[in-house]
Amino acid sequence: MTQFSMTRRGFCAAMAAATVARPALASPETLIARKADVQLAPEGYGATQVWSYDGSVPGPVLRARQGHRITRQLVNELDVPTSVHWHGIRIDNAMDGVAGLTQDAVPPGGTFDYDFALPDAGTYWYHAHTNSMEQVARGLSGALIVEEPDALDVDRDEVLVLDDWLLDPATGGFAEPFNHPMMMSHGGRTGNLVGVNGRYDFTLTAQQNERLRLRLINAANARIFDLRLEGMTGWAIALDGMPLDAPVPVTDVITLAPAQRIDLIVDIVAQEAGLLMWMQEDNWQLLADVTVSGQSARAARPAPSALPPNPRMELPALADARKLEMVMEGGAMAGMESAVYQGERLSFREMIERGQFWALAGQAGLSDTPFAKLSIGEPVRLKLINRTVFPHGMHLHGTHFREVHADGSLGPLRDTILSVPNQPLEIAFAADNPGKWLFHCHMLAHAASGMTTWINVA
Ligand code: C2O
Ligand code: CU
Repeated sequence: MTQFSMTRRGFCAAMAAATVARPALASPETLIARKADVQLAPEGYGATQVWSYDGSVPGPVLRARQGHRITRQLVNELDVPTSVHWHGIRIDNAMDGVAGLTQDAVPPGGTFDYDFALPDAGTYWYHAHTNSMEQVARGLSGALIVEEPDALDVDRDEVLVLDDWLLDPATGGFAEPFNHPMMMSHGGRTGNLVGVNGRYDFTLTAQQNERLRLRLINAANARIFDLRLEGMTGWAIALDGMPLDAPVPVTDVITLAPAQRIDLIVDIVAQEAGLLMWMQEDNWQLLADVTVSGQSARAARPAPSALPPNPRMELPALADARKLEMVMEGGAMAGMESAVYQGERLSFREMIERGQFWALAGQAGLSDTPFAKLSIGEPVRLKLINRTVFPHGMHLHGTHFREVHADGSLGPLRDTILSVPNQPLEIAFAADNPGKWLFHCHMLAHAASGMTTWINVA
């Protein structure tokens, strides 16, 4: 067993004990944003001072049952304001955690009480949503698991938070600055060290014939993970938290854009197993090692069945849907003529001087008026036209959507979708959650330098 799992197990036990022992009027359960020293880099390199939830990277795995609530008091012990976004939860707008839109950022020394219902089972995550380009890169993220009412027939349920860190090898600290123009105008901040659950050498132990549920979460600022299973047979059962109609056998590379999740059921079939990640240099690197020791007493099982559906997964008829279009532009090697930023039309050169490199529908960053005003329940089709030379993982807050394929058929429900250059992409959703919702690129350096807009549902 790795040191990390022991730490995590100890922590979970402590949490459970705290919950049981809590007297009626005790202070609320907290999530403390604070600095901590964590050994992200291999031994021999310095420890990294991170910004963490409760002292670990990733933060604690928050688990609750579908239909229950999450109640956590954010305590800000950092020197900077912060807030928490609960990514993928179809949440009450006031709890969405977007500083400047749904709440004020929590100042140093301040607190904020998050309390919200969990309508959907699935794999979600939480992360800072104040200066997230820097705060998420420094470690402020964690998994949020909403359990189905009935447990699945699996031997284990493992949460794998995939991440990367850009470290200075000389010190082990984060490479600065976080708002480097080169990163913002290109692919974003990608790390020089990748890992799972805060470990570059993450290891699981398993037995042959064991069946595992793996919940993969891409918490990286900008890295798109291309993944392959080795020594295991797998099925995808959910994307971005939402159950698929039927399990889909994994036969190919899995692409996971920043903020996306995939739930897999895997059967350990070989003596050596693992999750492999494709590297730019044309070779597969071991990302999560599964050490297979012995054989489980269980015989191999038939293919898994689908997860029970979440409520409200069907879209209304789209024939009369409101049609919207959004041109995505800017960045290195494509640029744009001009865009509106803080109420002013600026040339691309002027935008760059202000640290803005991208625009959505001609607008860089938030404006006073939303990209779209929608009425509650209104069906919407949104065409994304990617005129940049980069892929962008586009995320809608508050509501999941489906891709509309060229033949009119609908893809699976998700909250983040990868838009690639020059490929038309259309999504559809029902504006069924009232409030102010962000729509932005989850390459967080892009979001910070123009690729953020919002819709209003009322
Ligand atoms: Cu996961 Cu607006 O973010
Ligand atoms: Cu982007």
